Amino acid sequence: MKHLISMADLTHDEIIEILDMATDLKEKRQRGKVTDLLKNKSIGMIFEKSSTRTRVSFEVAMSDLGGHALYLNTRDMQVGRGETVADTAAVLSRYLYCIVARVYSHDTVKELAEHSSIPVVNALSDLEHPCQIIADLMTIREYKNRLTGLKYAWIGDGNNVCNSAILGCALVDMEIVVACPPGYEPDENIVEQARKMGGKVTVTHDPAEAARDADIIYADVWVSMGDEEEREKRLTELAPYQINSELVDLAKQDVIVMHCLPAHRGEEISAEVMDGPHSVVFDQAENRLHAQKALLLKLMC
Ligand code: CP
Ligand code: NVA
Repeated sequence: MKHLISMADLTHDEIIEILDMATDLKEKRQRGKVTDLLKNKSIGMIFEKSSTRTRVSFEVAMSDLGGHALYLNTRDMQVGRGETVADTAAVLSRYLYCIVARVYSHDTVKELAEHSSIPVVNALSDLEHPCQIIADLMTIREYKNRLTGLKYAWIGDGNNVCNSAILGCALVDMEIVVACPPGYEPDENIVEQARKMGGKVTVTHDPAEAARDADIIYADVWVSMGDEEEREKRLTELAPYQINSELVDLAKQDVIVMHCLPAHRGEEISAEVMDGPHSVVFDQAENRLHAQKALLLKLMC
């Protein structure tokens, strides 16, 4: 693995190795142990869109590892004034050890990877969000002590996070059932790719079918960054897909409820569920830090 553009850039063994490293790094951080394995190394983080978790967790990850992370907002960069993505990648490759990029178009992060001589990490595009899913698999493993054979219910918009979840589940042999309204299905090429990888993927319009006997129920916003103009339409069409107590009651008793955050209580998830006993959303957010440390070490060492 040279870059992480798609969840499918990882093999089964690589994801397990990253999760094991992440677990070890988490335990070391809790014990206050120094892990300055990236001393004197800098990464650049290009952001076209807003972020709380991704930005902060990558910055803290680099600081904990003894290195440095530069936040690069495209509004302040020459790429925002017409310099090409290819030239930007070539120049940044002369200073940095890794580029982390959050972009609107998936093609932009692919282009960065094509023209850089250092690893490029997709920190969310319109098609995928692999960093989120690595942390989520870590969280699932912490709660369930396994990954293979579980049932993962994605309920809502079949968006970028959903696409990476489909590939992530295929990698670890976890069943995924996506329930979404017509017109909100996940990317069909990704579904096909996951099935070719041996993944068990079902796409339905029935949220109850997804939730029934699920080990994991997952929510994400109904209006992703870039979808703001469709806000009213999306809130209406996705309303029957809210994750609430009624839906959670259909799942296994020890179901965990996940959300990549930011959340909108009362839209994609009820406040009762979001703040209830099944919710593991803040563990997920924390695990972004540990999982990304492991990813950076895997790519940069
Ligand atoms: N889940 C996630 O990527 O959050 P941010 O948009 O805050 O980075
Ligand atoms: N699907 C959401 C995820 C945010 C972390 C978005 O793209 O805005």
